[in-house]
Amino acid sequence: MSIDPNTLPPPYRIKVVEPIPFLTADERRRALAEAGYNPFNLRADQITIDLLSDSGTGATSAAQEAAAALGDESYAGARSWFRFVDEVRDLTGYPHILPVHQGRAGERILFSTLLKPGQICISNTHFDTTHANVELAAAEARDLPCPEAADLDSAEPFKGNIDLVALKRVLTGPERQRVGLVLMTITNNGLGAQPVSMANLEAVKELCARHRVPFFLDAARFAENAWLVNQREPGYQDWTPRQIATRAFALADGCVVSLKKDGLSAIGGFIGLRDDDLHAGCEANLIATEGFSTYGGLAGHDLERLAQGVREVMDPAYLRARAASTARLARMINDAGVDTIQPAGIHALYVNAGRLLPHLAPHEFPGHSLGCQLFLDGGIRCAELGSLYLGQMDDQHRLLAPAPFELVRLAIPRRVYTDSHLDYVASILAGIAKSPERVRGYRIVSSPRLLRHFKVRLEPLE
Ligand code: F0G
Repeated sequence: MSIDPNTLPPPYRIKVVEPIPFLTADERRRALAEAGYNPFNLRADQITIDLLSDSGTGATSAAQEAAAALGDESYAGARSWFRFVDEVRDLTGYPHILPVHQGRAGERILFSTLLKPGQICISNTHFDTTHANVELAAAEARDLPCPEAADLDSAEPFKGNIDLVALKRVLTGPERQRVGLVLMTITNNGLGAQPVSMANLEAVKELCARHRVPFFLDAARFAENAWLVNQREPGYQDWTPRQIATRAFALADGCVVSLKKDGLSAIGGFIGLRDDDLHAGCEANLIATEGFSTYGGLAGHDLERLAQGVREVMDPAYLRARAASTARLARMINDAGVDTIQPAGIHALYVNAGRLLPHLAPHEFPGHSLGCQLFLDGGIRCAELGSLYLGQMDDQHRLLAPAPFELVRLAIPRRVYTDSHLDYVASILAGIAKSPERVRGYRIVSSPRLLRHFKVRLEPLE
């Protein structure tokens, strides 16, 4: 009897574990109050299930740790560097690879070298640090997501795509001279972990080539995007995830990659480039600010884990099991009457808190309220993606313009939680969905002017 691959468990077993705490309801109440009702201020040892981020939070493999023991910490030209660069070149095909300690360092170096003040960087959606680094280069970050992305409930397979009509309009209009870069984020983390199709990437490449605009990938989740292409895009069923990822890199002029996600490591990233002059500019900046061009702020043992990680992550059995686990969690949550952005992606689920908590207005922060309730009821930590994070506010913290949606992101660390941990998450959410009206809203007590969501303090409304 042949086995349906979709029913296979993850292709690994667990060898090293760490304990997770279970606080009492009283302890959780006190912890959240002391944290100013901001989950970013909680101590990790107060959290039972941490779904704040899938970045740098994954489990490494025995092969990665064995490789790390061989890490060569030479200042220049270390063995570990050559192992890393060979793997990354083999995957991406870019002649120039610059290592960085994490994705945003790559963004800062690339944008400050490539973008001129006043230029526009166009994206399907900029991630928040990406947006910030474009602005730090005195350029404008402009998002042109495809129209399908605005319907959170539709089953369209590639809602991460860019709006090609809108992109063409800019590239053929009066603003063409100002466009310094087109950056495609795969998968689209800012918009529901939705993948980008190869057809969309090919069309972007064609438009960029015709109008002589550099085309880059923000490829933090290159393997997960490749898996979703294999599963959803006609014509790619016989391609391996690795072939698809390599093809995506081949379409672009270069990339910035945070390897804290699909590099299966706690730290790391790289810039990939074809252009010699751009490489020379970025390399000088790298050496001045991150480290020499054969380590870029990373230790030799990090480079070893990363070299092994970018190979392991392309295993179809791993990607299939990870996608199935997220989809299973989505089904359980949806069956409990809680809506998530459809269709489920891989690295995170985005809960429609605005719809679950209609008694809370945007200025009472329904997404944040749901996040706090998940901690109060079950010790679960996650991130709000709603008006607290994206809304426009005045100096008195009054909400002037709400975010388009009130969402909560449940990010799933790689190889860390079993389906039974995720069953627990679903059951806590289902409990909230049974009596959503008991979830209280929040108001801001104090807030920094920049990057508000990290340090804001709040209190519950009566
Ligand atoms: N690009 C994307 C699409 C990201 O999701 C992230 C980080 C970065 C760039 C920056 O990379 O963290 O290595 O500097 N995303 C994390 C998250 C923080 O939780 O989604 P970094």
